[in-house]
Amino acid sequence: MICCDGLVKIYMTDNRKVMALEGLDITIKTGEMMAIIGKSGSGKSTLLHMIGGLETPTAGSILIDGKDISTLKEKEIVTYRRNTIGFLWQKSARNLFPYLTALQNIETMMRLGKKYSKERAIKLLQAVGMEQHANKFPNQLSGGEQQRVSIAVALANQPSILLADEPTGAVDSQTAQQIFQLFHELNCKLGITIIIVTHDLALADKVDRTVLISDGKISTEKIRQVQKAADFQSHEEYSVMDKAHRIQLSEEVLEEAGITSDKVKVEVVEGKVVISRPE
Ligand SMILES: Nc1ncnc2c1ncn2[C@@H]1O[C@H](COP(=O)(O)OP(=O)(O)OP(=O)(O)O)[C@@H](O)[C@H]1O
Ligand SMILES: [Mg+2]
Repeated sequence: MICCDGLVKIYMTDNRKVMALEGLDITIKTGEMMAIIGKSGSGKSTLLHMIGGLETPTAGSILIDGKDISTLKEKEIVTYRRNTIGFLWQKSARNLFPYLTALQNIETMMRLGKKYSKERAIKLLQAVGMEQHANKFPNQLSGGEQQRVSIAVALANQPSILLADEPTGAVDSQTAQQIFQLFHELNCKLGITIIIVTHDLALADKVDRTVLISDGKISTEKIRQVQKAADFQSHEEYSVMDKAHRIQLSEEVLEEAGITSDKVKVEVVEGKVVISRPE
């Protein structure tokens, strides 16, 4: 289980402060497959980097199975990054060494994590449907093929959490569907927790839960309800309340309710909170 509590991240550039996350709370269950959406600059990559142990929060905590990762020693953090986390970078060129073949890329990652096994490297290539491209270099592969190899590399050290930052940003929609299908299989077969940042709302619908980050906080979440017998799917959308009991209302909701001022009437009617335009 991943538990982020009151995460704040402030970047300093040229003596200017940029607040990337402003007290974000989220809990992700083991084995969950979820998506994170949000406008450019809303803090999605920052959140993944912090869960992945690549950056430290300015305030707040991240517990992984009950352990606060900020208490890990330098050596333990390196092990955590290599063995617990699999990472797919937003800048896809960062995922693969250009001078190594697909197979060598996986093998190198395994050696770094001290889990080398040629047999397993080949199995991983098979799992992502790339065994026939084992000896090709990244520049001899298409964008979608490179992403598949990158997924195999991310899985090289048998991580329990896969963090994927815009894994389908540079591929066509059909390839994107296939990559999501692959994530599904990995999630079901291996039970890996998968967190995917995506811009693509159609893909976000394919996961159990989608959360929206706005202004450095999680504001709404959509949960997929699947009624297996009827093979029927629907989504329920929830607003997320923060610790101070604040919730954010979307522009659409305000417009529908005809609310234009910054003052609203709040009352409890028959056990429901009703927010309306002041008379
Ligand atoms: N290393 C950094 N130094 C300074 N500012 C940064 C750094 N990384 C991110 N930021 C700033 O923090 C904010 C959040 O950035 P982040 O990369 O997390 O956004 P994002 O949601 O991933 O955006 P995108 O969808 O464009 O990838 C932005 O305002 C960004 O400019
Ligand atoms: Mg990003």
